[in-house]
Amino acid sequence: MNDILPDATPRWHQLETVTRAVLAAYGYREMRVPIVEKTELFARSIGEVTDIVEKEMYSFEDRNGEHLTLRPEATAGMVRAGISNGLLYNQVQRLWCHGPMFRHERPQKGRYRQFHQVDVEAYGLAGPDIDAELNIMLARLWKALGVSALELQINTLGTPATRQRYRKLLVEYFRRHLDALDEDSRRRLDSNPMRVLDSKVPETRKVVEGAPSLLDHLDAESQAHFAEFQKLLDDSGIRYRVNPRLVRGLDYYTRTVFEWVTTRLGAQDAVCSGGRYDGLVELLGGKPTPAIGFAMGMERMVALMEAEGVSVPDTAPHAYLVRVGAEAERAGLRLAEQLRTALPGLRLLVDCSGGDFGKQLKRADKSGARVALVLGDNEARKHEVGFKPLRNTTEQVSISWDLAVARLAAWVQ
Ligand code: HAM
Repeated sequence: MNDILPDATPRWHQLETVTRAVLAAYGYREMRVPIVEKTELFARSIGEVTDIVEKEMYSFEDRNGEHLTLRPEATAGMVRAGISNGLLYNQVQRLWCHGPMFRHERPQKGRYRQFHQVDVEAYGLAGPDIDAELNIMLARLWKALGVSALELQINTLGTPATRQRYRKLLVEYFRRHLDALDEDSRRRLDSNPMRVLDSKVPETRKVVEGAPSLLDHLDAESQAHFAEFQKLLDDSGIRYRVNPRLVRGLDYYTRTVFEWVTTRLGAQDAVCSGGRYDGLVELLGGKPTPAIGFAMGMERMVALMEAEGVSVPDTAPHAYLVRVGAEAERAGLRLAEQLRTALPGLRLLVDCSGGDFGKQLKRADKSGARVALVLGDNEARKHEVGFKPLRNTTEQVSISWDLAVARLAAWVQ
């Protein structure tokens, strides 16, 4: 679990601001849901036999003996909230939320126990056009964020009935190669054989290479949905790769699944992933409602922006006010307020640490400010202030407070 320190927050704000604007452009409305939910909600939706539910949840009993869990992801909570607030009843909803998620994973670069997601969900839309639009929106988001090293991988998991049939074929196949499977995969064979396809163990991977592909056993409707999804991506010039091994680690998916992956961040290469989950709303007690969504890992996106050298907006103060003398100290606070009122957006730091001009100017320089405003008792009496540029060799000049407003205005958007 990481502290996000003040030097890092401008990057996070940049990511959040740009993301918010792009989501608004596509009609997504923000929702805020609790960080804690009943454990059962996650077990039912993500699936009992998944890494997340089996070994990664932070679960506890509260004082009333309720079994609760820090959310490992947001989709289950969004559906729960949508149902209990009547948002999903015969309605189309485009919703999003963001915040911390918790998984007790083995921490490594790009994989943390508390991490943050932007989670986006569309309800009530069954056609492949929304599958495509979500990814078109993401392509726009990457452009707006200034990153390009992302590849879209897509797959389809068919309907639950298709999967049932395919599962049988898989189990038969894997049973014939039981000796070559790792222990985890063997254990999963009966409960969740499709997760074996996702195994990272080299021996198991070899067996997986020869496994039957779900794409060859799809029902006609899922096939048509997947074909149309691809056509719409083609129409929009979105490049993608069909990856038949993309199965995702959560059980609720049906049909379309996708991941945006990068080669710039090492092993934890998925920056944004999601898919369709047409059965989940009903499973959790709502009316049958088609649904699709994704979550972007914010730590990973921040890391990618760093890796691609995206510049960060400047947050250093525009001006730093130094005051020496009893009168200047009082007048300085008034001047600072006048400047902030006249110039919304101005970042003005008042030195409150004291000391002579030299000491305060040193701090002004260190603050990164462009200019020091220098106020002695004499200037204060005349409503003047010394204007001392810090980033070039221009001499300090005494100017009126009004002129100080005009000079600073040029730097403040
Ligand atoms: P997920 O693939 O488990 O999907 O997570 C989505 C994204 O969160 C990943 O692609 C990754 O960027 C980030 N992420 C996951 N675990 C970690 C971690 N331990 N540390 C850092 N980043 C991480 C879901 O969570 C689904 N709820 C997505 C979804 C929404 N599907 C439909 N709607």
